[in-house]
Amino acid sequence: MDSFSRIDSLVKSWMHVARSEIMQNFEKEIKVWTKSGRNDLVTSIDRAVENYYVKQIQENFPSAKVIGEESYQKEIDYKTSGMVWIIDPIDGTMNFVKQQDHFASMIGIYQDGIGMRGYIYDVMQNDLFWGGPEIGVFCNEDRLQKPPDRNLRNGLVEISMPFLVHNYRSLQRVALESSGVRIYGSAGIQFIHVLQGKCAAYLSYLRPWDFAAGKILAQALNLQVNTIDGCTLDMLSSSDVLVATKNAQKDIQCLVAPAR
Ligand code: IPD
Ligand code: CA
Ligand code: CA
Ligand code: CA
Repeated sequence: MDSFSRIDSLVKSWMHVARSEIMQNFEKEIKVWTKSGRNDLVTSIDRAVENYYVKQIQENFPSAKVIGEESYQKEIDYKTSGMVWIIDPIDGTMNFVKQQDHFASMIGIYQDGIGMRGYIYDVMQNDLFWGGPEIGVFCNEDRLQKPPDRNLRNGLVEISMPFLVHNYRSLQRVALESSGVRIYGSAGIQFIHVLQGKCAAYLSYLRPWDFAAGKILAQALNLQVNTIDGCTLDMLSSSDVLVATKNAQKDIQCLVAPAR
């Protein structure tokens, strides 16, 4: 297996190149297309960044499998064996288009289904969060401490807008029990908030590229990353996801309505 310190320096250098491209393109005209609906966007930058990562991975790790949000094909039977790279070139594309802020670029690396490395780049803050089970988590070169095990009552929660508006599984009860709710529109940025202890929990419906990197980083800091019911996430399937401190997870599970 390739040494992960070599992988770390390669991935960091690719992500720095991608960030420079993104920043330079702010001055140019960015093409925007809709995918499944008017709130599901993809831009020329999402595609360019994904193509760049895929090219680099294929050149350096020819036997690795790559799953990227923008090139994902439903009909392919993806497998978890071997080395699997999961890419979200721009997470929070709507924020990227509307705010030019609060978006991330993310890569997760799995070996035979086990999360080895996660990288989440908060592009506008220029903060790269990276790490894995053996090394812990870093923000750029600074090691992150494990966040305090806050309970729900003493912590902010981040809940995706559709979950909250539709009161999915009585999540409004969770919101009311917490110190308050924040919504940022980027899974990557919201994973970072839990890693940093800025909020006690994050709940959303996510696809594999939305949680691949964050799951590895959060678990390396003793945080819980499961379905709302506490089941293990399938790394290749979409699911509801709860990222939380142990105490907040317990509190939330007591409040949510049973799955229908
Ligand atoms: C989206 C963002 C958003 C989450 C959506 C994701 P994208 O990712 O992470 O916060 O609620 O489920 O699809 O499409 O901007 O990469
Ligand atoms: Ca998308
Ligand atoms: Ca995403
Ligand atoms: Ca994306």
